[in-house]
Amino acid sequence: MEKIILTGDRPTGRLHLGHYVGSLKRRVELQNSGEFDKIFVMIADAQALTDNADNPEKVRQNIIEVALDYLSVGIDPTKTTIFIQSMVPELTELAFYYMNLVTVSRVQRNPTVKTEIKMRNFEQSIPVGFFCYPVSQASDITAFKATTVPVGEDQAPMIELTREIVNRFNNVYGDTLVEPEILLPENEVCQRLPGTDGKAKMSKSLGNCIYLSDSAKEMAKKVKSMYTDPLHLNISDPGHLEGNCPFIYLDAFCTDEHFAKYLPDYKNIQELKDHYTRGGLGDGTVKKFLISVLDETLAPIRERRRQWEQDIPAVYEILKNGSEAAREVAAKTLHEVREAMKINYFDDADLIRQHSEKYAAK
Ligand code: TRP
Repeated sequence: MEKIILTGDRPTGRLHLGHYVGSLKRRVELQNSGEFDKIFVMIADAQALTDNADNPEKVRQNIIEVALDYLSVGIDPTKTTIFIQSMVPELTELAFYYMNLVTVSRVQRNPTVKTEIKMRNFEQSIPVGFFCYPVSQASDITAFKATTVPVGEDQAPMIELTREIVNRFNNVYGDTLVEPEILLPENEVCQRLPGTDGKAKMSKSLGNCIYLSDSAKEMAKKVKSMYTDPLHLNISDPGHLEGNCPFIYLDAFCTDEHFAKYLPDYKNIQELKDHYTRGGLGDGTVKKFLISVLDETLAPIRERRRQWEQDIPAVYEILKNGSEAAREVAAKTLHEVREAMKINYFDDADLIRQHSEKYAAK
């Protein structure tokens, strides 16, 4: 069986370090591993509209931002099909059929949907489209017969639901769809990078993000104001690592080579942590090191972004070609789905013959 990746992001803002460690970095590694037959990366504008119906302009403005972020981290349009969700209308039709295979209570139990409903104060007025987005996500994945979905852990309930829909569909209508596997980040700190304020998640609405497109100066400023250990008042005080942002970020980003290069007094992160908890190591030193580490990661991304920014029509051309290619694949799956469900009336010679015989016998 072919190995196929599908993944994507909602275009509601620029992508940040949480996206990078949680999924983008891995996508690029998978893309370049040569282990996959096809890779699709989708800009999920239709899904973004499910909770931004009154603000389509926000979605419209952010498609290019996400595309630029993709290209700048190294997603390569010659190896990966990058496309826009709403430009593949077959996905919507698939979702409409899948909705019949899922109960309302099943979606209501989805922990990610529950959290989002709370965050958006939707309690009494959940848009139907928003409520159905987990089902539409199943069509995104199955339309491409994806075997592998590399995403952050918050997406796990969606992949679970997709697997249920696949099983249900194949049982009812015959083997047609492929059951996908989730691929989570290997490093646990990468699964949910906290914001610069120490809050549980880096999120645009909390204003605690470091964006991939931030300048070196903006990034350094954000690191300098990061939440550390409120009890660590003097350098000589023993420090605490729990919830200490610079250390969490170092866990996600730094390697022993970074120490050799920027902080040779220590061999590795463990030595740095030991010194901090013993006392005698200031937050300033840790933050300065983190700035060097992040800059090494972000400088080439920033540079590549700057180059693509000089040729926006080429970026839209990539999205257009990608969307056309994606549409062909999704149309083929939709055709198979309609065949399996026997709603392909005009292609169904048996149906026409049966009905002819039924009335001829009269
Ligand atoms: N829900 C994802 C997000 O919020 C975006 C998305 C839509 C997606 N469809 C998908 C991710 C299919 C993986 C697979 O970022």
